Amino acid sequence: MHYEYNPAFVSINYPLIRYMGSKYKLLDWISTELGQLEFNTVLDGFSGSGAVSYMLKKLNKTVYSNDFLHFSYILAKATTENSFQRINSNDLNTLHKQDSNTPNFIQETFKGIFYSKDELRYLDKISYNINKLSNQYKRALAMSALIRSCIKKQPRGVFTISGDMEKYNDGRRDLRLTIQEHFLEQIEVYNGIVFNNLNKNRAFHGNVFEFDDKKYKPDLVYLDPPYVPRSDDNCYVKRYHFLEGLSKYWKDEEIDFNTKVHKIKKKYTPFSYRKTAIIAFDELFDKFKSSIIVLSYSSNGYPDLAILEGLLGKYKNNVEIKKKNHKYHFGNHKSVKRSNVEEYLIIGK
Ligand SMILES: C[S@@+](CC[C@H](N)C(=O)[O-])C[C@H]1O[C@@H](n2cnc3c(N)ncnc32)[C@H](O)[C@@H]1O
Repeated sequence: MHYEYNPAFVSINYPLIRYMGSKYKLLDWISTELGQLEFNTVLDGFSGSGAVSYMLKKLNKTVYSNDFLHFSYILAKATTENSFQRINSNDLNTLHKQDSNTPNFIQETFKGIFYSKDELRYLDKISYNINKLSNQYKRALAMSALIRSCIKKQPRGVFTISGDMEKYNDGRRDLRLTIQEHFLEQIEVYNGIVFNNLNKNRAFHGNVFEFDDKKYKPDLVYLDPPYVPRSDDNCYVKRYHFLEGLSKYWKDEEIDFNTKVHKIKKKYTPFSYRKTAIIAFDELFDKFKSSIIVLSYSSNGYPDLAILEGLLGKYKNNVEIKKKNHKYHFGNHKSVKRSNVEEYLIIGK
């Protein structure tokens, strides 16, 4: 395998978000490989943490970022679509004003489940005051800072763990700081990465199959769908339901109060099931066949590489595979395991 990092391409300072399947650690490789293809407009169809969209923005492309999770959409709006807006000290004052109309939904719903009483009250306050900021980009930026604060303060960054968090406390700074302290830091972090690449980048909140490709006509489509899990499951809502709810103050979401962590309803995606994954890939390739297609995949996914190569070959004459060895960590706070996988970029031209 030939792989050379070309530092001329990008310096990626995207705030790391613990997100299942995030390509954060592979951004240099992906940007180097994509940098060799000719395209100006690009759709990131499954944007997740927003890291790939932001990297594409840094490559000076016109980026369309899409995910069916609302909090993913907010992250992309704040970092990829937003070119100019930052949170200033007036905005910070607005965010921290006491307002007797502030609802107490978070305090009531998640009492004893996540975070302290003060922190939950703070989340209610900031969520309410965010609506008073003057434009959608400031609101998305403040919400992104709040989301990342919540992830940092939550052990392992997943919302399947609740109640007594002491056993997870290994003294690390992220767990020591309060959400209030994190939030002020994260405002600085997100303010610091706002930039203008002179293109009109857009964030979309929707099902990738409904993306209006006839209107936007992306030259290249980057696809990083969830993998059919070998064991356990790969449900994003199960892990991140709190962030999804927070990003829209649980509007139109139904909470299942029978669950210990007060989850919202799981979102169906055909990529998560053996029975539907192959058909879904076929439909996806068919939909985007007028664009260069780049699929991120890995050796521990299903279907396997040969099947995907064959499927893409139905729509593209030239299919190339780029490979990279990658180590990833999994497990719990007691034992972290390492596993070697091969990461693929399957490129159809
Ligand atoms: C592997 S993750 C993407 C990770 C992302 N590339 C990153 O670096 O953070 C897969 C994403 O697909 C989204 N997703 C799953 N099915 C979808 C669908 N039908 N339409 C849009 N997004 C979908 C999930 O919400 C999840 O964020």
